[in-house]
Amino acid sequence: MITKFDEVIVGEEDIRRRVLEIAAKITDDYRDREPLLVCVLKGAVFFTADLVRQVSIPCELDFMAVSSYGSAADSSGVVRILKDLDAYITDRHVIIVEDIVDSGLTLSYLRKNLTARNPASVEVATLLTKPARQKVDIKCKYVGFEVPDRFVVGYGLDFNEHYRNLRFIAALPEEELG
Ligand code: PRP
Repeated sequence: MITKFDEVIVGEEDIRRRVLEIAAKITDDYRDREPLLVCVLKGAVFFTADLVRQVSIPCELDFMAVSSYGSAADSSGVVRILKDLDAYITDRHVIIVEDIVDSGLTLSYLRKNLTARNPASVEVATLLTKPARQKVDIKCKYVGFEVPDRFVVGYGLDFNEHYRNLRFIAALPEEELG
């Protein structure tokens, strides 16, 4: 396991600033609508925690855990729900909170699944997108940063469960990927 990263992709201060901006937009957009923020475990946990604390209108928080079949670096689009929402979302304004949209397959599944429950609306807030790898067209209302086609870790994103606790987003050196 490495402890020093030479390539920081998004620094701590930039994350903090962008989270504030997105929270301000959500606060504006959802006034009087009490959105339900759905954190997709585990990667989105830090983004969600920081974001929701900066949203200054009433809102609720719920969690989903999904597992996508495939290797650590490639999701397959076949998604299994490990933990479903506690809340019923009929007529609710839902915001799915993700750490990264890579191929977009996980989010595409999640969005369809939640839309089938007849919410009032479903939007997406993702900290990162990786346009070079996107396979399906997904409209994300709130995007933090576009990242290059590198394996990125930190601020919730892992490699074999390591590095989630970094305060910044860094590229994993190619040799670590094996
Ligand atoms: C990551 C990320 C997204 C998904 C994106 O989760 O949090 O849910 O992969 O990939 P995709 O756009 O190619 O579908 P992961 O399965 O690594 O689980 P984790 O959040 O628990 O680390």
